[in-house]
Amino acid sequence: MIKAHTMKGIILAGGTGTRLRPLTLVTSKQLLPIYDKPMVFYPLQTLLNAGIKDILIIVAPERAGDFLHVLGSGKEWGAKFTYEIQDKPAGLADAFRIGASFIDDGSVTMILGDNLFLGKDEEVHDAITTFTSGGRVFAREVSDARPFGVVEFDADGKVLSIEEKPTQPKSNFALIGLYIFDHQVVEIAKNLVPSARGEIEITDIHKAYLERGQLDVRMYTGEWLDTGTPSSLLKAGLLVAKAQGEKIE
Ligand code: TTP
Repeated sequence: MIKAHTMKGIILAGGTGTRLRPLTLVTSKQLLPIYDKPMVFYPLQTLLNAGIKDILIIVAPERAGDFLHVLGSGKEWGAKFTYEIQDKPAGLADAFRIGASFIDDGSVTMILGDNLFLGKDEEVHDAITTFTSGGRVFAREVSDARPFGVVEFDADGKVLSIEEKPTQPKSNFALIGLYIFDHQVVEIAKNLVPSARGEIEITDIHKAYLERGQLDVRMYTGEWLDTGTPSSLLKAGLLVAKAQGEKIE
């Protein structure tokens, strides 16, 4: 069994953040405040809480200095941070091309820099510390699955299909932004072809593992937020404040 301390982490924190303009003219989306902390602290803490200490942070070139200033070497966190620049937002799966030598022949947990997992750290911790090989991802029930990767299950919970941003989702289960993969992800990502929107899609990585019979989909039952829009950013701030016992009228 692979022990947690051999699992590496990637935080994908590039992108353009167009939906959050003009806020993202100031700095990167992942450095904007969620209540009392920069957004990226939350996914970072999720990885640290799962025992991951070797973390690659992927950033956009124009924001790299801001990240270095805010996060530094990782020593203050009891971890080691490495940085890579993503020249252009080529898609979520690009994390495994940029991170190829970092991942090497090990396993990796990739988390999106604008995704918050609140309240059920133990589910993430368990998924990571018991991981041995293949791919393991999280699904969560959402009211509208259309903007996400959507997973369809049969009556026994077996995965039937995965579709990226379907206009007619086959279920309400979205695949959310934390993905655990073994070293095969490097070769799978290398061979991906961009989708119609010009990005290499994480959904295609999921499908590759599914075809190999190696995809494990788990449920995340805590609060999960994708904080990419003004209203979800506000909602996230309120949720975090509430979790800390603050009353905001
Ligand atoms: P998105 O929210 O899909 O993209 P974005 O951040 O560029 O925002 P917008 O759609 O408003 O322009 O990305 C999800 C996360 O992944 C986010 O943390 C940014 C990051 N990301 C990258 O780092 N590189 C990429 O190529 C893409 C597509 C996203």
